[in-house]
Amino acid sequence: MSSQRTMHNLALIGFMGTGKSSVGRLVASHIHFQFIDTDEWIENHTGKSITDIFAQAGEAVFRQIEKQVVGEISHLNKHVFSTGGGLAANAENLQSLKSHALVVCLWASPEVIWERVRAQSHRPLLKDPDPQEKIRRLLASREPFYKQADVLVNTEMRSVKEVAQHVLHQFQLARTSHDGSAT
Ligand code: S3P
Repeated sequence: MSSQRTMHNLALIGFMGTGKSSVGRLVASHIHFQFIDTDEWIENHTGKSITDIFAQAGEAVFRQIEKQVVGEISHLNKHVFSTGGGLAANAENLQSLKSHALVVCLWASPEVIWERVRAQSHRPLLKDPDPQEKIRRLLASREPFYKQADVLVNTEMRSVKEVAQHVLHQFQLARTSHDGSAT
């Protein structure tokens, strides 16, 4: 990490089902930062659910809206962001997040992800004849992006609280080791 980095925010990236929103909320309340979930932001600003955006406008439009969110949040300070699973699988989005935030990737294997998401139905990308294979394929294609995070945290065998403590510790470490960032 270069000493030029500013880290007045914390961004959680990673695949669906890795706990970004729950962990982000917990971390934000602990350090008294504002919390933004990018999917919630999109739903509030468009007045539509993510499912409806995918169904009515398509994934390409959703990715464009994600880019807008990335631009908007780059001006904020003292925020924790939880990002949709595909948001950081884009070089420009990732670069933008890194310009103002410590980027932490929450990780889990395809098998564990499947166990966590199989009972849920709100994710359009998993409405697939073979969702397990879709998870494996998507995760493999996104892995090169996720691995560019500043910190990778394995969420397997850890509770939300334990993951949040780990993330907090990494954030505090990063901010104290970067001049001018611990504001
Ligand atoms: C997506 C993940 C979802 C949501 C959308 C697309 C993805 O967010 O942004 O359904 O491309 O992986 P979560 O990671 O919060 O489930």
